Amino acid sequence: MNTDTLESLKEVALSAFAEAKSIEALRVEEVKFLGRKSEFNQFLKSLASLSPEERRLVGGRANEVKREILDAFEAARIRLESAGFDAEKEWVDVTDPGEKLPVGHLHILTRVEREICDIFRSLGFAIADGPEVETEFYNFDALNIPADHPARDMQDTFWLHQKSGSKERSVVNKKSPRLLLRTHTSPVQVRYMETHTPPFRIIVPGRIFRSEATDASHEHTFYQFESLFVDTDVSVGNFKYVAELFFSRFFGKHISVRLRPSYFPFVEPGFEFDIACTMCDGAGCSSCHGTGWLEVGGAGMVNQKVFEAAGYERDRWKGFAWGFGTNRLAMMKYKIPDIRLFQGGDLRFLNQF
Ligand code: FA5
Repeated sequence: MNTDTLESLKEVALSAFAEAKSIEALRVEEVKFLGRKSEFNQFLKSLASLSPEERRLVGGRANEVKREILDAFEAARIRLESAGFDAEKEWVDVTDPGEKLPVGHLHILTRVEREICDIFRSLGFAIADGPEVETEFYNFDALNIPADHPARDMQDTFWLHQKSGSKERSVVNKKSPRLLLRTHTSPVQVRYMETHTPPFRIIVPGRIFRSEATDASHEHTFYQFESLFVDTDVSVGNFKYVAELFFSRFFGKHISVRLRPSYFPFVEPGFEFDIACTMCDGAGCSSCHGTGWLEVGGAGMVNQKVFEAAGYERDRWKGFAWGFGTNRLAMMKYKIPDIRLFQGGDLRFLNQF
């Protein structure tokens, strides 16, 4: 092949590319003129047999021709590809707001639980945990609630069926326990004390279960917060101070706490404690039935029998313990009228928070 043939080959390739009607047709022409077995490629290979003088001359031109053919191919490709673009259909309005994707979020009870933990952490309390499936020993016996004691009836219990021994009465023995769903977070008091030496202060957030009929303020499955503060010189005054500090931080305004004598076998003396009504600040309204107070939980000085059950020496330590319902606290803060809404799964309720 001489340079004339090279020129005519170029003309044929350029017009084939220019006339191609589709990308597929163009690809066929590409193989024909630029492929490994193409006439043009054979020509480039034949340059090896030429004298150096001729090779420089013909080879230089061959490279220019190759560049021109490649440019023509590229121009044809762009022409055919942009012809397939339908501006009408494929136009995108980049200023159009995107479609909102539904995003999940924390349940209101989880948020309240975390908020409570943060406040206690800032007061130097550690967070402790215990099992939801509990033994009769930790839930009752170690808390000075023996079998046949009427205090057991205060907390209706879900007992777990066991293959043997389920009909036996309570056995004050950790090794052969009857199992139940814990009815309060107080069992964690004993579990924690078994492995820790005072002084310490802890809180125990957790889910608990009671075999109760439900209504607007009672659930069978709900959440509590236990608090335990043990040292050598602890008084009811310390409890009242911590409680007022906590509730004032939680509600974002000063909250007074009131104690009323009550009975829980694991504390002595024991109290029910109320906070000043968060709606009327104690003046009396429909939320507090005109009393100015809202009942929140139980509290008291740890009974020495509980210290003994945990393995501590009697009269060596003093401590206060209290427990309150997380759901009820969330209801007060967010003005939720019915406790059953928390577990109802109604997104209209859940998405408000
Ligand atoms: C107890 O559970 C004791 N363990 C609290 C305690 C701890 C006393 C430490 C002394 C020392 P009580 O059964 O009263 O006590 O429950 C405590 C709180 O849980 C109640 O004040 C209430 O806020 C909440 N609560 C009780 N029963 C229900 C229920 N069925 N539904 C929702 N909240 C409840």
